[in-house]
Amino acid sequence: MMKEPISLLIVDDEEPLRTRLGERFTRKGYSVSCAPNGNEALSLLGNKRFHVALVDIKMPGMNGIELLKALKTEQPFIEVIILTGYAEVDTAIEAMKSGAYDYLAKPYNLNELEIILQKAYEKSVLQKENYILRDEVKAHDPYGVMIGKSPKIIAIHQLIEKVAPTDSSVLIEGESGTGKELVANLIHQKSHRKEQPFIVIDCSTLQESLLENELFGHEKGAFTGATAQKIGLVELADRGTAFVDEIAEMNLTTQAKFLRILETGSFRRVGGTKQLKVDVRVIAATKRILEHAVKEGNFREDLYYRLNVVKIHLPPLRERKEDIPLLVNHFLKQGKAARGNPKTISPEALEAIIAFDWPGNVRELSNVIEQGFILSSGPTILPEDLHFQTKSFSPNLEINRLSDLEREHIARALEKEKGNKTKAAKTLGISLRNLYRKMEKYNLP
Ligand SMILES: Nc1ncnc2c1ncn2[C@@H]1O[C@H](COP(=O)(O)OP(=O)(O)OP(=O)(O)O)[C@@H](O)[C@H]1O
Ligand SMILES: [Mg+2]
Repeated sequence: MMKEPISLLIVDDEEPLRTRLGERFTRKGYSVSCAPNGNEALSLLGNKRFHVALVDIKMPGMNGIELLKALKTEQPFIEVIILTGYAEVDTAIEAMKSGAYDYLAKPYNLNELEIILQKAYEKSVLQKENYILRDEVKAHDPYGVMIGKSPKIIAIHQLIEKVAPTDSSVLIEGESGTGKELVANLIHQKSHRKEQPFIVIDCSTLQESLLENELFGHEKGAFTGATAQKIGLVELADRGTAFVDEIAEMNLTTQAKFLRILETGSFRRVGGTKQLKVDVRVIAATKRILEHAVKEGNFREDLYYRLNVVKIHLPPLRERKEDIPLLVNHFLKQGKAARGNPKTISPEALEAIIAFDWPGNVRELSNVIEQGFILSSGPTILPEDLHFQTKSFSPNLEINRLSDLEREHIARALEKEKGNKTKAAKTLGISLRNLYRKMEKYNLP
């Protein structure tokens, strides 16, 4: 599980107790913050996320239960342990009802406290992981390896090794299916954030108003229909990496808010009044040349510079044909792994593959090989088993036209699978949810 230190908040009005606990747990490797009362505790939340809070029930001003509720609103994955006086059974029950993880009556045993803290920490981490999984925002990780021995791919490997350990923003440009998400995930896997979430935010699948909601979350009652608090993707990516896909599609208002995150790490939930803080590494991707969007006035220049600290340009497959045989082998092995029976490819079929333009790049190649694997009746994939799905690429094609190609690609996949969306999503290599989004975006029945 996550290897970062447990971050602990101790709130107690008794100074000696705070100091003693603080020192003890700091020695044990916790990252500890202390506050003498509720208000001061709340003021610490802006700068730090906590796994666990240890809260005295009786304090001047805000009491422990009020503080518990406020803490949970602001940092929903925090677990709170309430410290009660001897024989305060009623308040202990009230604390549990209000969502405390546990309570301890004073005087308590320090070893017992440590065990509870450890368990509360684990619950906090699990809660967050579950939330992420439930939201289907985290894809399976790690994604895999990047195959290729062309000079361009080797250079990209070297660049990944260099930037991964830093916290620097990265901008990835490349046509559809060239491996942008794969590269982003590799950077994450090779970074010190690898045990933390890798959150994918796709700006192209959401309408403007929804995107902000997805990114930043909302407070209960922020608008009609907001019946519960929602934690945004940026918050889920805290301590981890946010992969912001199709960033050119982000509207200017959202861009301004997003820039704030890069500059100061702070944002507000929709309908929220408080500035919240996150620590995210941003990797953005686009099919367009982002600089063009800047020139056209559709993308903020300051945001562009913030993102463009390191740029990785993924070349289309047709510009690195020497990688094709390796990729074909890789996908054949994957097919074998999935189905058990090994298959090879005939020299004629490989020739046809090398001659093709691959407008859908590596994803399309992977799909064609998988399909060939299924369609071939013998142990060898022949040219007639290959069905190139998209039209041959014309180099004069406007980059914007890629979305048309995507639409067509999806329509074909649906047609081929006779409208079976689960199968079509599989063929396309995207999640079902993503397929629905794209169908809506492209107005596909
Ligand atoms: N060099 C590579 N080696 C092995 N697999 C690759 C390589 N490049 C891409 N892939 C695979 O091809 C598929 C598409 O890659 P990915 O989703 O990263 O592309 P993308 O650039 O994000 O595409 P899009 O712009 O359409 O979202 C994935 O299954 C990925 O694992
Ligand atoms: Mg992608």
